[in-house]
Amino acid sequence: MRKTFIAASFAAVVFVAVSCGTAGRRTGSTYPVVDSLMRVMTLEEKIGQTVLFTSDWSVTGPTMRTGYLDDIRAGRCGNIFNAYTADYTRELQRVAVEETRLGIPLLFGYDVIHGFRTIFPINLALSCTWDPASVEESARIAAREATAAGLHWTFSPMCDICVEPRWGRISEGSGEDAFLGSALAAAMTRGYQGDDLSADNTLLACVKHYAAYGAPQAGRDYNTVDMSERWLREFYLPPYKAAIDAGALSVMASFNELDGVPATASKHLMEDILRDEWGFKGFVVTDYTGINEMVCHGYAADEEDAASLAVNAGIDMDMQSAAYMNYLKGLVEAGKVSEKTVDDCCRRVLEVKAALGLFEDPYRYCSAEREAAETLTDQNRAAARRIACESMVLLSNNGILPLEKGRPVAVTGPLADSKNDLLASWRGAGRVEDVPVSVLGAIREVNPVSASAGTVVLVAGEDCRWSGEAASRSDIRLPEEQTALLRQLKAQRKKVVLVVMNGRPLDLSEESQLADAILEAWYPGTMGGYAVADVLFGDFNPSGKLSVTFPRNLGQVPIYHYAKNTGRPYVHPEAKYESRYLDVPNEPLYAFGHGLSYTDFTYGEPELSAASFSGEGSITVRTSVSNTGSRAGTETVQLYIRDLVGSVTRPVKQLKGFRKVSLAPGETEEVSFTIDKETLSFWRQDMSFGPETGDFKLFVGGASDKVKEAQFSYTE
Ligand code: GLC
Repeated sequence: MRKTFIAASFAAVVFVAVSCGTAGRRTGSTYPVVDSLMRVMTLEEKIGQTVLFTSDWSVTGPTMRTGYLDDIRAGRCGNIFNAYTADYTRELQRVAVEETRLGIPLLFGYDVIHGFRTIFPINLALSCTWDPASVEESARIAAREATAAGLHWTFSPMCDICVEPRWGRISEGSGEDAFLGSALAAAMTRGYQGDDLSADNTLLACVKHYAAYGAPQAGRDYNTVDMSERWLREFYLPPYKAAIDAGALSVMASFNELDGVPATASKHLMEDILRDEWGFKGFVVTDYTGINEMVCHGYAADEEDAASLAVNAGIDMDMQSAAYMNYLKGLVEAGKVSEKTVDDCCRRVLEVKAALGLFEDPYRYCSAEREAAETLTDQNRAAARRIACESMVLLSNNGILPLEKGRPVAVTGPLADSKNDLLASWRGAGRVEDVPVSVLGAIREVNPVSASAGTVVLVAGEDCRWSGEAASRSDIRLPEEQTALLRQLKAQRKKVVLVVMNGRPLDLSEESQLADAILEAWYPGTMGGYAVADVLFGDFNPSGKLSVTFPRNLGQVPIYHYAKNTGRPYVHPEAKYESRYLDVPNEPLYAFGHGLSYTDFTYGEPELSAASFSGEGSITVRTSVSNTGSRAGTETVQLYIRDLVGSVTRPVKQLKGFRKVSLAPGETEEVSFTIDKETLSFWRQDMSFGPETGDFKLFVGGASDKVKEAQFSYTE
């Protein structure tokens, strides 16, 4: 019955189209079924496709709409989020397909941010792997698990660059750097969407939060964002574009205003840049109630005005505000919104549904069998454990790590035995009962735990609710009682390994003076307990590198590696009139790209293939990296450049390449990077994008503050 019904309803649609003698005329869709539907849909049905409501399974915003099932049945809502499992999505899909006039399938979305049931480390941790392949693998596994639970669409990758540790959502992004963030946004998109979006195990990606949501003033969530167009394009937009260039077919508008205009109504962002410059072909969805929040912004007089502003700016789908459902028809009838505008929104949504294969089989993703087979498999868990190890960053170590198996060690701290905090925020359908062990439990499996041991593992950090959405902090230190415990242990002459679980860069200045080692574990996910033990006992040699700068204190913020030199750089320690502080150095506590290993890596001097190049040419920079320690290890070799003189001032360092190399003890590998005009291109004073001739410095090393340099020129 079900399949026959669908065939019959679509056949009817196509028949009506043909009988109107309009079949065959290309009206712009790449899917004939979309053309056929558009020809017979009423204005109300088209508006229904622009509406997205949450189910009542979980709440990710301030409002909940109870009548969503009636809305689906009445064709008022064509898209649902926060609903999953094969059975539940099958039931909702049945209502849409079999109880509405045209049977257009629903699109099911969900926040699959760092895993679905197998939870991976938070995205800020994933970015510290500096490994696009691992990030892609984590997204691939998440897609397989989520689609097996009936989902079509994830609100990920989060591409927001951030240099603001007070902002709780820094935990969800890839840190401070546009080059690294771009590589990882593209990797995540590839992982979700694969090569065939119509396959039943690939997931529609959603590039968010467009744009520059990660730069709220004072680090307070939802706060004002204001920056120059140049700074926006140079340091914040690239990751969004990289995800779109990787094929992402949906974009989420951000809550924030930018240059005085809420992104939800920014024609400049949604039309000029996204569609006209970048050629984006998918659909744009608002963030949760983003449309009606424009009244609070003081940008719309009322919700009807907000709906008109949003749809005329290029927003195709309204998440949760119901403004499109309530006002679009009236706005079209009043001539304030053209029917073509609504047609364009509807068509973009239908085309993505067609790309997902939903018109061929609306139930394609609702497979209880696949759900059972794909979820939390041993392979998924093993990948999550390995990637968690790769994401951890050894910040300091006086030689106490790795710990020796079999020697008693005490374990303490507020997060030592927490399974819940391992999963962090935006944990998807992750469940604490799926977490096999806490950090304490994992250490106990390896070592006898003795409270009187001379070596103590102190597991401290932030309650996982202290980062994520609506979780900004004005103080980025550890809670006083945790630092007091560390002081006490040191007063008892204990050796202390501090393991930090947190969702943001923290001010660890005092801890860095007290602890014998600090391991940045972030929130490492379902298998994170084992991963911490793997690193502590040397079963995994830490290789993570910071994707975000750790300040000495909040007073240094914002602090990031691509700073400008200023007219009075701080170069003379006793000088007064230079850009400096009276109470702290300019340098951060831990620099971008910092991360230690249990072995040592030594770099040769960078060698250039030529002293200069011009036009479409290029030069190659080679450097040797040697493992001069006693353990195998992995190093991330980083390439930075500096344009010494530009038509606008240029950063003292900009990341332009990175490469992970795994070396056995005594092994040496040559790493090379190509530098061409693309490497040197930037937004010039006239806002054109391209290189400028002149002299440059390049820097190669294992951290932005541990580099060897060379000089080259780019000539006419
Ligand atoms: C939230 C978040 C966004 C999320 C959406 C749906 O408010 O800002 O990241 O995807 O609503 O849950």
